Amino acid sequence: MQRARSLVAFVLLALSSSFASAFDPSPLQDFCVAIKDPKDGVFVNGKFCRDPMLATANDFSFSGLNIPGNTSNKVGSNVTLVNVDKIPGLNTLGISLARIDFAPYGGLNPPHTHPRATEILVVLEGTLYVGFVTSNPNRLITKFLNAGDVFVFPVGLIHFQFNIGQTNAVAISGLSSQNPGVITIANAVFGSNPPINLDVLTKAFQVDKNVVNYLQKQFWVNNH
Ligand SMILES: *[C@@H]1O[C@H](CO)[C@@H](O)[C@H](O)[C@H]1NC(C)=O
Ligand SMILES: *[C@@H]1O[C@H](CO)[C@@H](O)[C@H](O)[C@H]1NC(C)=O
Repeated sequence: MQRARSLVAFVLLALSSSFASAFDPSPLQDFCVAIKDPKDGVFVNGKFCRDPMLATANDFSFSGLNIPGNTSNKVGSNVTLVNVDKIPGLNTLGISLARIDFAPYGGLNPPHTHPRATEILVVLEGTLYVGFVTSNPNRLITKFLNAGDVFVFPVGLIHFQFNIGQTNAVAISGLSSQNPGVITIANAVFGSNPPINLDVLTKAFQVDKNVVNYLQKQFWVNNH
């Protein structure tokens, strides 16, 4: 009896967690090209959809990913994200793409997470040192990647990519959401608006108030 009851509890828990899924829901039609104005739209799933009979090839395409992003910024990297805002046809399909450019000698895509997407990255040019940190207890998993090497960053985990080569580096990432979202850790913690309370950060990081003050005064560049 006890065992049957805990089995029922387990099944209910499994069911409820699948309903509360944070991932993009599966589409209920072939596609649902996003439109800004709901006036002439049909179906709703994520964004309002264009009448499928009016969809064109342009709704499913984007040009310019051959053009490098400008990496002349404080972190030396630039992410060109091709999500549902760039390709309206991605709406409800649970996938998107990014090009990441890295400056030579230390271009960094700083530690960040994607709350809604797993990322699969392929290096086209250069040499990257990449890694992610698991949930508590925090194990670091890293690898050096050269052209043609592929690496996966599981959904929600903090990860980074660092150009350790003397040339530009370029990578392309596939992401399992039409809108992966990004939380850059340093920016979120020390550059939020309004700032997080000084006492909170001082206690959390176990440092002197001046250290937190200093960090909060920095300009935290958004490399997107
Ligand atoms: C990224 O590159 C684009 C295209 O060169 C540029 O317009 C944008 O300002 C760059 N972003 C950052 C943060 O450097
Ligand atoms: C890249 O951005 C820097 C700083 O904003 C700017 O001075 C430079 O002209 C840009 N380079 C290109 C190729 O657009």
